[in-house]
Amino acid sequence: MSNLIVLGAQWGDEGKGKIVDLFAEKFDIVARYQGGHNAGHTVQVAGRRFVLKLIPSGILHPGKRAVIGNGVVIDPHALLEEIRTLEDAGIDVRGQLAISNRAHVIFPFHRLAEKVSENRPDRVAIGTTSRGIGPCYEDKIGRRGMRIADLLNPPVFDTLFRYLSEDKQTIARAFHLDDQLDLDAIREDYKRMAEQIRPMVCDTAQLLNDAIRAGRRVLFEGAQGTMLDIDHGTYPFVTSSSAAAGGACTGTGVAPTKIDGILGVSKAYITRVGSGPFPSEDHGEDGERIRKAGNEFGSVTGRPRRCGWFDVPLLRYTAMVNGFDSLIITKLDVLDPFDRIKVCVAYRVHGHLTTGMPAENALLEQIEPVYEEVPGWKTPTSSITRYEDLPAAARGYIAFLEEKTGAEVGCVSTGPDRTQTMIRAGSRMEKLLS
Ligand code: GDP
Ligand code: IMO
Ligand code: MG
Repeated sequence: MSNLIVLGAQWGDEGKGKIVDLFAEKFDIVARYQGGHNAGHTVQVAGRRFVLKLIPSGILHPGKRAVIGNGVVIDPHALLEEIRTLEDAGIDVRGQLAISNRAHVIFPFHRLAEKVSENRPDRVAIGTTSRGIGPCYEDKIGRRGMRIADLLNPPVFDTLFRYLSEDKQTIARAFHLDDQLDLDAIREDYKRMAEQIRPMVCDTAQLLNDAIRAGRRVLFEGAQGTMLDIDHGTYPFVTSSSAAAGGACTGTGVAPTKIDGILGVSKAYITRVGSGPFPSEDHGEDGERIRKAGNEFGSVTGRPRRCGWFDVPLLRYTAMVNGFDSLIITKLDVLDPFDRIKVCVAYRVHGHLTTGMPAENALLEQIEPVYEEVPGWKTPTSSITRYEDLPAAARGYIAFLEEKTGAEVGCVSTGPDRTQTMIRAGSRMEKLLS
């Protein structure tokens, strides 16, 4: 084992933070490759709870390097606030964190621009996290964005800031949005924050490649989930970055030939935050039971997460686009009280059965899920530490998921703490991590 990617196999919030934190022990560096502070990765260690947004979950291990790669978009306010919170908890963030000079910078006017599409009564809102993520990536792809390297170079900063802020104000006024932005104050604020960030900034692609050449191990941490990926997700109800495995390479500057394995994280059921199609959503009592038992409320916005049953066609699709070597199934314990567990095994679209993933949003919205049921186990699983000790019906459920998805389940999680995780002996996952 050397370099692995851990990423979300559903619509986000699969428990990536917990898993990355646990696996980080075996790696030298943990690198985030996309997204921004729209992510919320909750990690629980010995009763202490941390919510990481921008900073890779590996930061909680003293001495490990944490890298924010070029594919990430950074709001300096959010970054500095997160650093302060972690430092207050005794973590040596400035000693461990490296920030890419090629990552892009989020400004308050990016949040303003987001209102143009999200807050208008005549448009379909995506239900974003309102963090300015999409507009910042728009500027990146539009080749007018500001990178961290520009933020640190005052003359370049001044020019780019003027261009960007003028454009956004023009747009805001055209849409009759009250901007109320004090651009002089924002400019000075960003210059001040640039100096606080400067010591942590470097060419992280060089750092990672040098480390790999020297035999160090890198764990790549995905944010969001594959179904929120800008290319492969339920477009347009997606985020604006490449959450799928390919993003780990473009988002860090590490070549695909240096990646040794790809691990997908999936809940034992499924959730989604925000708008968009959700074939196996349960609008009834069971969905509510899952939400309560799984505490399914967004860690960034506090919104209730939409809940539903494990979706096999979706997982087969995300396994295909990512090439998962093995899966981690989290939150199995949330299903402990259920008599019967439903699994969506196929889609019916306009009367035709399919296990493929339609591209068109209109078709995705019309999917009728086809369910099979498996027996529940009705036994608490959160204190079980060996896979073999899980109730037979729980192992049966995992075997059912393996058979239907064609993917190995190499790890099962039955609680939020590091200790509540079991890696299956003899699995491909165990080999990749050894
Ligand atoms: P992420 O964004 O993928 O890192 O996931 P989140 O942190 O947003 O959401 C996952 C939530 O489930 C967090 O509150 C975790 O502490 C919690 N969690 C993770 N694994 C388990 C598990 O196996 N069982 C239970 N009950 N909670 C878990
Ligand atoms: P983690 O890393 C779940 C969703 C938002 C919205 C859509 C676009 O914790 O799994 P954005 O603000 O990114 O432009 O919003 O994506 N979304 C997430 N949902 N988990 C996340 O991150 C998410 N990050 C964004 O709710 O539907
Ligand atoms: Mg989350």
